[in-house]
Amino acid sequence: MSARKMITAALPYANGPVHIGHLAGVYIPADVYARFQRRLGKEVAFICGSDEHGIPITIRAKKEGVTPQDIVDKYHGIIKKSFADLGISFDEYSRTTSKKHYEVSQDFFTTLYNKEKFTEEVSEQYFDEQANEFLADRYIVGTCPNCGNDNAYGDQCEKCGSTLSPSELINPKSMLSGNVPILKETKNWYLPLNDYENFLNEWIIEGHKDDWKPNVYGQVKSWLNDGLKPRAMTRDLNWGVPVPLPDADGKVLYVWFDAPIGYISFTQEWAEKNGKNWKDYWQNEESDLIHFIGKDNIVFHCIIFPAMMKAHGDYIMPKNVPAFEFLNLENDKISTSRNWAVWAHEYVEEFPGQQDVLRYALLSSAPETKDNNFTWKDFQTKNNSELVGIFGNFINRVAVLIHKYYDGVVPAGDENAVELNEITKAATEIENFLENFEFRNALSAMMNLARFGNQYLQTEEPWKTIKDNPEKAASSLFVAAQIAVGLAQVCEPFMPFSAEKLQKMFNVPQINWEQLKNNKVLIKTGDQINNAELLFSKIEDETIEFQIQKLENTKASNKKTNPNANPMKDEIQFDDFTKIDLRTATILTAEKVEKADKLLKFSVDTGVDVRTVVSGVAESFTPEECVGKQVMILLNLAPRKIRGIESQGMLLLTTKPDGKLAFVTPDVPVENGVEIG
Ligand code: MF3
Ligand code: ZN
Repeated sequence: MSARKMITAALPYANGPVHIGHLAGVYIPADVYARFQRRLGKEVAFICGSDEHGIPITIRAKKEGVTPQDIVDKYHGIIKKSFADLGISFDEYSRTTSKKHYEVSQDFFTTLYNKEKFTEEVSEQYFDEQANEFLADRYIVGTCPNCGNDNAYGDQCEKCGSTLSPSELINPKSMLSGNVPILKETKNWYLPLNDYENFLNEWIIEGHKDDWKPNVYGQVKSWLNDGLKPRAMTRDLNWGVPVPLPDADGKVLYVWFDAPIGYISFTQEWAEKNGKNWKDYWQNEESDLIHFIGKDNIVFHCIIFPAMMKAHGDYIMPKNVPAFEFLNLENDKISTSRNWAVWAHEYVEEFPGQQDVLRYALLSSAPETKDNNFTWKDFQTKNNSELVGIFGNFINRVAVLIHKYYDGVVPAGDENAVELNEITKAATEIENFLENFEFRNALSAMMNLARFGNQYLQTEEPWKTIKDNPEKAASSLFVAAQIAVGLAQVCEPFMPFSAEKLQKMFNVPQINWEQLKNNKVLIKTGDQINNAELLFSKIEDETIEFQIQKLENTKASNKKTNPNANPMKDEIQFDDFTKIDLRTATILTAEKVEKADKLLKFSVDTGVDVRTVVSGVAESFTPEECVGKQVMILLNLAPRKIRGIESQGMLLLTTKPDGKLAFVTPDVPVENGVEIG
């Protein structure tokens, strides 16, 4: 048995917050596993961080009108905090824009380069001449050859779901400029994955037939059956880790090259801070490398990253890659862009102190072998019937009865009572299930111990026997106290917040799993316990209705009455709106701007002053048509130089069905300088 466990959880893209799908399908199971391995006494490194490169980040930045750096700074903070709030016990949560990560990933690339593991290939890629940029597949839109959808992307048509390549699109256009892109030659470095087919076949197809999950094994097998091709490990992009070669200007490492190396660089960051040797975890057969991921990441963790590590030569291969399927929300696919999600950071705010409820609910519907579904009703039932009704109820009865009859001192009882075997049995079952990545079964084994405790009290009825057979009552409560402490011990990987409360309640330290399996007596006769603390409380219908209503609102706002309307921009706060100073104004003069076909220069009476505004409306109006018009002006927009003229503000315009612009104007004449809002 290996001494060390190198546990990774897929690096979330820092392009949005994390939602319950991420939590149920990666982070909570990974955390349960890591916590459990620590309890087994293994040396654990549980490593994760934000994936801050790649197209998902640059797309989000374009959408929000900010820089990629702004995006990753914002979401890295939100993601990191919500993991901490939910008790995800990463030893290190870093980010791929860290200095160390740049060094480590460039170093990895250089090693492969020097070992001549790459091939150089010149290919033709779409290029936007105006933006002077090569276009990632996602940056090309056009008509889908399969269904005729005019808004298909270069990699996928979201309408019919087909996978595309940019060259298949009819009438491709660049999303950067709207222009038709040209094809331009570019050189990149490829990893010939085909060279690793034999290795992968032997290692996975022959070696892990029985111990890897069927969904993972099956996907790898089908990739290998189809045959592997060389894959570009560098990209023409201006956001990412620069390719560390002299002739590689404007090229960065492919995000799927640098991101998994993040696991390694973050382990190094952690090791440096904690006096560990990172190589013990990554380059030593005494270590088990385990990757927790979602099913869309299988090929990267089972084929590409292993091939990279094999090419490098110094690394161990993953022992297992437990990949999860997807979680749906109220029977609909979770989607960030449609805001169809329960967001981790919102849950933490809206359900303070109830992190374990979410952990429990998500674990019990973890999409282990097939897609699963989360509903708020189900969440409520799991809390009210299971956590409150069974687990919390049992603990509460034990604590209250011991206080009532024995002033909180554990009474004497039979240390060999057969019922005590149930604790050992639960601990053993949980261990077997968790070693096999069967989180739902492990959770059930925990809950069954609580169930058993309840039934035990029900048959023993110490509140009755206390009168005529006090010795029996004492013995019953002695046994019940052992079960309660057993629960305090076994629930920790799943519900760490409750475990802590329970340990305080029963005045017991956390013990490791071996001790737990060997000691039947977990709290001694004569030990003092503290007052019962509230573990779980009933979730009312209103609370659930509120959440359901929130989703209904999302659904309603996703239904477009005009299919051409752009989706709503990100929500802003009222304060953001009050910063905007909109006024009524009148155009006094208008003239063409020399050598600028589209521009008109206006002088505008804004009520507070007369100012100059330059506006791109010359194709829609003649200057004469504009004079005297009452308009609306964004008054406090920072002045901008346009063709050498300082433009002080912006006139509000909209687009008519014929594509020409129209001024937004009050429907009755008003004075100038009147506020709009
Ligand atoms: N950011 C990727 C995703 O969300 C996962 C990266 S995992 C790593 O799908 F291996 F690259 F780190
Ligand atoms: Zn299509």
